[in-house]
Amino acid sequence: MLVSVWSSGKPRLGRWGRWWNPRRQHLFAGHGPARRLRALGSLAGTALLAALWLLWLLWSTPGEAPAPQPTLTILIWHWPFTNRPPELPSNTCTSYGVAHCRLSTNRSLLATADAVVFHHRELQTRRVHLPLAERPRGQPWVWASMESPSHTHGLSRLRGVFNWVLSYRRDSDIFVPYGRLEPREGPAPPLPAKDRVAAWVVSNFHERQRRVQLYRQLAPHLRVDVFGRATRRPLCTNCLLPTVARYLFYLSFENSQHRDYITEKFWRNALAAGALPVVLGPPRASYEAFVPPDAFVHVDDFGSARELAAFLAGMNESCYRRFFAWRDRLRVRLFSDWRERFCAICGRYPHLPRDQVYQDLKGWFQA
Ligand SMILES: *[C@@H]1O[C@H](CO)[C@@H](O)[C@H](O)[C@H]1NC(C)=O
Ligand SMILES: *[C@@H]1O[C@H](CO)[C@@H](O)[C@H](O)[C@H]1NC(C)=O
Repeated sequence: MLVSVWSSGKPRLGRWGRWWNPRRQHLFAGHGPARRLRALGSLAGTALLAALWLLWLLWSTPGEAPAPQPTLTILIWHWPFTNRPPELPSNTCTSYGVAHCRLSTNRSLLATADAVVFHHRELQTRRVHLPLAERPRGQPWVWASMESPSHTHGLSRLRGVFNWVLSYRRDSDIFVPYGRLEPREGPAPPLPAKDRVAAWVVSNFHERQRRVQLYRQLAPHLRVDVFGRATRRPLCTNCLLPTVARYLFYLSFENSQHRDYITEKFWRNALAAGALPVVLGPPRASYEAFVPPDAFVHVDDFGSARELAAFLAGMNESCYRRFFAWRDRLRVRLFSDWRERFCAICGRYPHLPRDQVYQDLKGWFQA
C-alpha cells in the first residue's frame, strides 16, 4: 500500500500531501519531479517512523500504559481441608499484592492452566486422584503441604509427578512460612500486662510426643496452665490471644521436630500474643533464620527441664523485656490464608525451574 502511494508520477497523498507538499518544497534538496518525489518519500518515511516511535513510547512508559502481561491461571484441584472453597473473584491475588494471577477450582481448566496445585491431605486420604491421563504435556504440577513429615504419608506413591513444592521449608520452590517479622511503622504497642506464668494450648496429647515428655518434666518446677482439647479447657478462637497475653511465657512446642517446621504455635500463639515463646522444634539456627536470636528461649540451650524452669522462674523484668527489643522496629505478620499461599505461586512463577521433577519427593521431604 505504501508502495502504491510512491510509485505513480504524482504523489497521491491526499490531505497529507496538500498539508506539507507546497510549502515545504524548499526543504527538498534536489530539483525536478523525480528527486522531489524521492525526497517526499523519505520525509513521509521519517514521519511514519516518528509516529511509530511515539506509539512505542506511549506503550512502554511505566504507569501510563504498561505493556500487557499475560494472566497466569493457577488451578487448585481440591481446596485444602474443605469441599467448599472460598469465593475466588478475579482480584483475589491483587489484594495480596500479586498481579496477573487468577486462582480457580474449576477442573475444566486442566487443559489450559499454567500450573495445577494438589494439596497433600486430600491425596493422602485418597479423596483426590491425580488426573495423570489428562495432564497436558509440560504442565507444571505443584505439591502443597504445611504439615510436618511425621503427619505426611503416602509420598512414595508420588514419585516423578511434581515439578514444584509449596511448603514452609525454606528450600521449597514456593516458600510460604507460617509467619514473618516485617518492619514496623510507628511505635510498638506496649507489652500486655502479665499476671500469670506459663501457658500451653494443646489438642493432641500423646505420651510418646517429645513435647508431652518435656511438659511432664517441666510441670513440677514451673506453673504451666494447659488449655485446649487435651485438657477439656478449649479456648474459643477469639479468646486465645487475650488469654495467652496475660502469661509471661508460652510453650511453643511443635507436635514433631523437623527442618524449618515452625508453626502458628510460635508466630501467633506466642509472638503475636505478646508472650515469650519457649520453643521446642527445629534447632536454634532455624529460628534465627526468621527472628533475632534473643526473641525466644530454646529448650535445647538447657541441660535439663529443671534448668530451663529455673531460668524462666528466675528471670527479672529487665531481662524479660530484652526478649522483646525487636518489637520496637519489627511486627509480626501471620500467613494463614491458603489464597495468599496459592497467589505466591504467581509471584515466583518466572523464577521457577521449568524442567525439574521431584523423582523422590519422600526422600526430599523427610531429609
Ligand atoms: C469452568 O470452566 C469452563 C471452561 O472455561 C466454563 O465453561 C464453565 O462455565 C466453568 N464452570 C464454572 C462453574 O465456573
Ligand atoms: C536482672 O537479671 C540480669 C540477668 O540475670 C542481671 O544481670 C541484672 O542485674 C538483674 N537486674 C536486677 C535489677 O536485678
